[in-house]
Amino acid sequence: MKNKTKNKTSYWTIVKKISQSVREFKLPMILTPIFVGLEVIMECIIPIVIAMLIDELNGLSQNPAITDEIANQAMQNILIYCGILLPLAVFSLVFGLLSGRFAATASLGLSRNLRHDMFEKIQTFSFENIDKYATSGLVTRITTDVYYVQMAVMNIIRIAVRGPMMIIFSLVMCFVLAPQLWWTFLIIIPIVAAALLFIILKASPIFVRVFDEYDDLNDRIEKNIKGIRVVKSYVRSEYEKKLFYQRAKAVRDDFIKADKIFVLSNPVMQFAIYLLITLCTYFGGTYILNGAMTIGNFNSLMLYGVQCLFSLMMLGQVLISITMATTSVKRIYEILTEVPTIKDNDNPIFEIKDGSIDFDNVSFKYKKEAQRYALSDVNLHINSGETIGIIGGTGSAKSTLVNLISRLYDTTEGEVKVGGINVKEYDLTTLRNNVSVVLQKNILFSGSIKDNLRWGNENASDEEIIHACKLACADEFIMQFKDGYNHMIEQGGTNVSGGQKQRLCIARALLKNPKILILDDSTSAVDTKTDAKIRASFKEYIPEVTKFIIAQRISSVEDADRIIVMNDGKIDAVGTHEQLLKTNQIYQECYYSQTKRGGSLND
Ligand SMILES: Nc1ncnc2c1ncn2[C@@H]1O[C@H](COP(=O)(O)OP(=O)(O)OP(=O)(O)O)[C@@H](O)[C@H]1O
Ligand SMILES: [Mg+2]
Repeated sequence: MKNKTKNKTSYWTIVKKISQSVREFKLPMILTPIFVGLEVIMECIIPIVIAMLIDELNGLSQNPAITDEIANQAMQNILIYCGILLPLAVFSLVFGLLSGRFAATASLGLSRNLRHDMFEKIQTFSFENIDKYATSGLVTRITTDVYYVQMAVMNIIRIAVRGPMMIIFSLVMCFVLAPQLWWTFLIIIPIVAAALLFIILKASPIFVRVFDEYDDLNDRIEKNIKGIRVVKSYVRSEYEKKLFYQRAKAVRDDFIKADKIFVLSNPVMQFAIYLLITLCTYFGGTYILNGAMTIGNFNSLMLYGVQCLFSLMMLGQVLISITMATTSVKRIYEILTEVPTIKDNDNPIFEIKDGSIDFDNVSFKYKKEAQRYALSDVNLHINSGETIGIIGGTGSAKSTLVNLISRLYDTTEGEVKVGGINVKEYDLTTLRNNVSVVLQKNILFSGSIKDNLRWGNENASDEEIIHACKLACADEFIMQFKDGYNHMIEQGGTNVSGGQKQRLCIARALLKNPKILILDDSTSAVDTKTDAKIRASFKEYIPEVTKFIIAQRISSVEDADRIIVMNDGKIDAVGTHEQLLKTNQIYQECYYSQTKRGGSLND
């Protein structure tokens, strides 16, 4: 899932959007450059005072006819200069500390807000939005990309102000102190600037590439860790390692390439400084001997010259971090401006009359640009309280069909109605609370069993929880844990069996007290006896709830009021077990293959 950059969006629009996340950190964001400016002023005045001090000392040492009075006067002047120098140094330190502190608060604050805003935005994403970016892509954007933006902002508010101020001030001071030597800068600065430009132009394409490689690397890690059990059971560790190393190597190789370019900046800088010292000493020496320049001024010239070159180099680094962050900023902008494909209606309905469902000429495809419809021409009426079995081959669109009821996806054509009203008219929370889905790929979260079940209803009493678990046949195994309902579940539900996990997920869905309950292959890992028990308790205790049971086993659906046979994205037939057994070829094939293979259906 790479590069969904909206190339047409101007950089200014992107920066404006990102800067909206500054919020409560506006003040430190403004204060940082102010304190940096004050610090720079201190640092620029200090060499002037040092020059005066050196000249005073020099005058004293060069004076052959020194008297006590002259010595006392000179000492007094030295004390005055020291008295000026010390507070300047202290101010410089304080301003430096404050600017550093404000810069950290502002940049870290921005990154916190950005992560918060992105996370909030992702919560509004529909399944379609999530499909577009892939989980690993979202993780890289919310972690690595935000980090690069944070670093760039820190550099911009500190160095981007400091650099130009320092360069201008140093150059002006050099001109004032030694107009005769000003030309040396005209030689050196273009050399340094050209070298930095070369470095930036060479390095930036590498950084653009590295982010895509990071996505690939994270994608590999995510897939491997999520599927670690499968990897191990198929003894695919070596293969996985090879894939991981390939991606890690791509990231490493590109960083090495970038570093090889970056290290050029050091020798270039050293060369520029030595060149400056050589030129200034050679020509400056003549001026000092002629009396056209003092030693103090010469010394300050050197300080300003070096300061100017360093500032230029730091500015180059800022440009590099901006280059690195440019890609990140675009990737973050995409998330922040992504339009959720499923939104609440402006005047939503908060009441669902009953659990009846209508599919009117429904067709659906996962991507607008896709050629093929995943589901086509579905017309169906389901009465409230009916139990509907759905059966069909892998990829026949069983999940796709039921996912339209709770608006996990919206129809491409036609309407899905619940309680006689288009699902789009309902408040999304109301709809999803009333249409409880046990997804095919379901997960449990780290926490106690009770915590997990309360995802269904956070106010559920202990009695309600136990009742739901009894209906889902989960109570029997929960009570075998020493700590019962307080038993801790690990992230993803890895410390319970597949069948136990499915039963907990069913109980969690029941706790919503839904009008419609959808079990998408949710008892596939449950033994047939328990499966039958669950269905029997549904019949007895929640007869008014409309129930969908998607299954591969005929035994799971045969006692449903009606069974839908899906084939290649279309409804092939609808009927009772007996009717379908007489009339539908797919159902017959399925039935006979299962009875032949597994003996009795109700074993
Ligand atoms: N998120 C998705 N993005 C794109 N295509 C998808 C997506 N989910 C499913 N499909 C495609 O839609 C078709 C129907 O898939 P669906 O998951 O509904 O099948 P299913 O009958 O539930 O299969 P199974 O028995 O394996 O669960 C398949 O061709 C599948 O590849
Ligand atoms: Mg499915």
